[in-house]
Amino acid sequence: MPQHIKRLIGAFAVVIILFLLLQTILRPTSFGKIGHYRADAIQENKMKELHYAGSDKCTKCHEEMKTDKEVGFHATLQCEACHGPGLKHAMYADKFKDGKLPDSLMLHKPGSRKECVICHQLNAARVKIVFDTINNSMIKQIDPMKHNLVDKRNFAKLVCIECHNPHQP
Ligand code: HEC
Ligand code: HEC
Ligand code: HEC
Ligand code: HEC
Repeated sequence: MPQHIKRLIGAFAVVIILFLLLQTILRPTSFGKIGHYRADAIQENKMKELHYAGSDKCTKCHEEMKTDKEVGFHATLQCEACHGPGLKHAMYADKFKDGKLPDSLMLHKPGSRKECVICHQLNAARVKIVFDTINNSMIKQIDPMKHNLVDKRNFAKLVCIECHNPHQP
């Protein structure tokens, strides 16, 4: 065998041995127990603090919003997609007899022109779909600088919820 091929094989062997050595030293102990990932990762994620309650919890106290939303275009949206994380609110809201919650437990009510267009902003780059085949899967877009911007009578800027019911737009 020529000398330079021998050297090449030697160099490869060193790299492979080094790789295997480092791999056994650096690999987390729980890796591979259940699958190609750290088994500990599941436990670590479980320990994280919860922030969201889920719509089912909300509608126990807010039945009216559920019945409104169910039949409208926003039926598939989670309450907290608009109102923000509400786990603490859902847990403690009924602890206040007069129904007056402290500010820290109040949830935000997003109805401004800026907030609705988080989802409805006109996006020129989006693919134009002629027929929406999957049940309203394409969110309708508007241009917030044009779509019913001002009240023509007094030139006041209109917020979205002046015309659209957020729970049944
Ligand atoms: C245990 C009952 C209960 C649960 C569960 C609950 N709420 Fe409430 N919610 C209340 C009460 C009580 C108020 C205060 C009513 C008021 O001030 O008029 C309130 C008020 C609100 C408000 C109005 C805040 C404001 O500024 O007027 C929003 C929005 C709201 N809840 C959303 C939610 C969402 C979203 C969830 C689910 C994460 C939820 N609620 C779960 C009882 C509950
Ligand atoms: C598209 C965003 C959106 C979604 C989804 C949504 N809300 Fe709202 N919600 C709003 C806005 C905006 C307001 C403020 C309405 C107003 O001031 O007229 C509001 C108001 C409320 C209020 C206060 C009502 C009042 O009379 O002050 C409650 C309670 C509430 N929402 C609960 C819910 C619950 C429960 C769900 C899920 C079933 C939900 N919302 C889903 C946007 C949303
Ligand atoms: C989290 C994303 C999200 C937010 C925030 C949101 N929407 Fe929607 N909206 C949707 C989806 C999804 C649909 C159903 C698909 C469709 O019809 O465009 C929808 C549908 C609608 C429609 C019916 C469009 C049609 O098909 O004729 C109107 C009107 C509307 N939304 C207004 C609003 C208003 C007003 C707000 C603010 C209070 C708002 N939306 C906030 C996701 C959102
Ligand atoms: C002056 C009342 C008014 C205001 C304010 C208003 N809208 Fe509308 N919106 C309408 C009417 C009426 C329609 C149906 C006719 C049309 O498409 O213009 C509509 C249609 C829509 C549609 C469906 C468009 C489509 O392609 O079918 C969406 C989404 C929507 N509005 C979102 C919003 C958002 C987001 C805001 C706030 C930035 C807003 N609207 C403010 C009256 C209003």
